[in-house]
Amino acid sequence: MQRYSAVAAFFHWLSAALVIGLFYSGYMFHQVFERGTPERGDMFAWHKTVGILLLVVAVLRIGHRLMKPPPPLPAALPANERMLAKWSHRLFYFLILFIPLTGLIKISPDGGMTELKGGIDFPLIPGVSEGLSDLAGTIHENIVWAFAVLLIIHILAALYHHGRGTAAAGRMWPTR
Ligand code: HEM
Repeated sequence: MQRYSAVAAFFHWLSAALVIGLFYSGYMFHQVFERGTPERGDMFAWHKTVGILLLVVAVLRIGHRLMKPPPPLPAALPANERMLAKWSHRLFYFLILFIPLTGLIKISPDGGMTELKGGIDFPLIPGVSEGLSDLAGTIHENIVWAFAVLLIIHILAALYHHGRGTAAAGRMWPTR
């Protein structure tokens, strides 16, 4: 079996953990905690921090993938399944860049820096108008749910391949 490299698997499982944290923190700060409470502010600080970390990981991950292309999708899979896998993986790469960027644009209209957990100052995007910030916020809030649907399909596809023991099973697993 041709497996993903240890580095590719590391990036994959790290991204998965960060995404779980982002759904939890995004939902909690935006839907559960009252506006103006310290809990909400703290949860939002976590959300920004983990989101920007995911953006950094996404850039490194895509850079690594371009330099070290993964093993080809197994030829034993039907052509339509290979096509679906290829395009859904491309969509994932797009979304792990685009979603954090929309979050960053949402909080950027005042410019300057934003403070992350650990006292790290991160630069906001200069020149963002209130209108663009509102639009980015609306896109962010909606596209995360499309991302959730894609993730569920991705997990079901992985379970399907695992259950059937197809040539695609286990390639992202860190151990044999
Ligand atoms: C893949 C990365 C990310 C995911 C999966 C994600 C997920 C979420 C979720 C689930 C919500 C709640 C949506 C709702 O209540 O309907 C949310 C809201 C929000 N997130 Fe993120 N987030 C990500 C990255 C970021 C980043 C990097 C930032 C900022 C630097 C950010 C800033 C925000 C803001 C400001 C809101 C509130 C949106 C609004 O009020 O219009 N997010 N996010």
